[in-house]
Amino acid sequence: MSEFKTSQAEGLIPNFVNTYELEERAQKVIPADAFGYIASGAGDEFTLRENDRSFNHKLIIPHVLADVENPSTETVVDGDTITAPIILAPVAAHKLANEAGEIASAQGVHNFKTIYTTSSYASADLPEITTALAGSPEWFQFYFSKDNEINKRIIDRVKALGIKKIVLTADATVGGNREVDVRNQFVFPLNMPIVQEYLPQGIGKSMNYVYGSAKQKLSAKDVEFIASYSGLPVYVKGVQSALDVERALDAGAAGIWVSNHGGRQLDGGPAAFDSLQYVAKAVNQRVPIVYDSGIRRGQHVFKALASGADLVAIGRPAIYGLALGGSRGVEQVFNKLTEELKMVMQLAGTQTIEDVKRYQLRDNNFL
Ligand code: FNR
Ligand code: LAC
Repeated sequence: MSEFKTSQAEGLIPNFVNTYELEERAQKVIPADAFGYIASGAGDEFTLRENDRSFNHKLIIPHVLADVENPSTETVVDGDTITAPIILAPVAAHKLANEAGEIASAQGVHNFKTIYTTSSYASADLPEITTALAGSPEWFQFYFSKDNEINKRIIDRVKALGIKKIVLTADATVGGNREVDVRNQFVFPLNMPIVQEYLPQGIGKSMNYVYGSAKQKLSAKDVEFIASYSGLPVYVKGVQSALDVERALDAGAAGIWVSNHGGRQLDGGPAAFDSLQYVAKAVNQRVPIVYDSGIRRGQHVFKALASGADLVAIGRPAIYGLALGGSRGVEQVFNKLTEELKMVMQLAGTQTIEDVKRYQLRDNNFL
């Protein structure tokens, strides 16, 4: 394979109005097949589109005379204070978007002051990422090997670096028919050092091959194994139903991550935001909930928190920020969403994030 070249941007993104616009701009600096892999969803991209549309299913009622000014977005997670309840979702191969890859995204997340979720398929190795985070909280997203001895060695490395949490991704046991990647014949131009024991050569491999290298037959036993061997809290990512909430909690999960993988897995499934209310009802405050898929506005953050999420996570917007501005670009994306969130909080009459989590949205019966 010829050497992969992508953006080397580092610095403020000029004329940054909203995160929606970043996608079109990032397309100009990321090679076409890598951009297709990042931006696209599965199948007809129905679920990808629903992720955005679904936020209109609930409305934020402006409240006046609410005695609110300069709302605070500060949030405490496991004793760490973060700037806003917006964290980085695990995204593979950041070097597809910027040659500085995860080192730059980690610096951006650190400078904004939030939580970084490292993907098993990162294009940098764990120690480099942890060092670049300079003490900011790091969670590890696990694509589980079929071989538990390998899993133990990966967990040992995770623990040795002081990583605080493991996120087991459970909704990607096979690829979700990424037709853009099929048309582009996309294969990874980069290695994934963290999983090299079970995926020794990521270069030249398709997403389906990469997924096939991990364990398909995931069950409660795997959650139990990770929790008992690591002694770390385990969140299960990709949960969208009450049934799977009970499966995860019965297995000892310490948190639930509501997600449809950004519309990249089961096309024809629900918008993740529409699933959130069912999951929140089933969880019933027993464990924290993270929400991701389609977050592009402060309103989306607000609506997810008011619908039961404790934190939201962003994927593509952060990667587009990385492509367009390196670490500064990533930081800018988080700052933009936080600015919008503060404006929404002010107009909705909510002073703190706890107020937002108690807020009553109104069903949009006019759709
Ligand atoms: C992802 N996602 C993902 N999830 C995961 O658990 N492990 C991973 O390695 C990846 N890799 C990945 C690569 C790319 C390019 C994308 C776009 C997404 C899914 C990710 O964690 C998250 O669920 C979605 O990205 C959230 O949707 P938005 O914010 O991208 O709309
Ligand atoms: C993806 C995998 C890496 O969504 O989770 O591309």
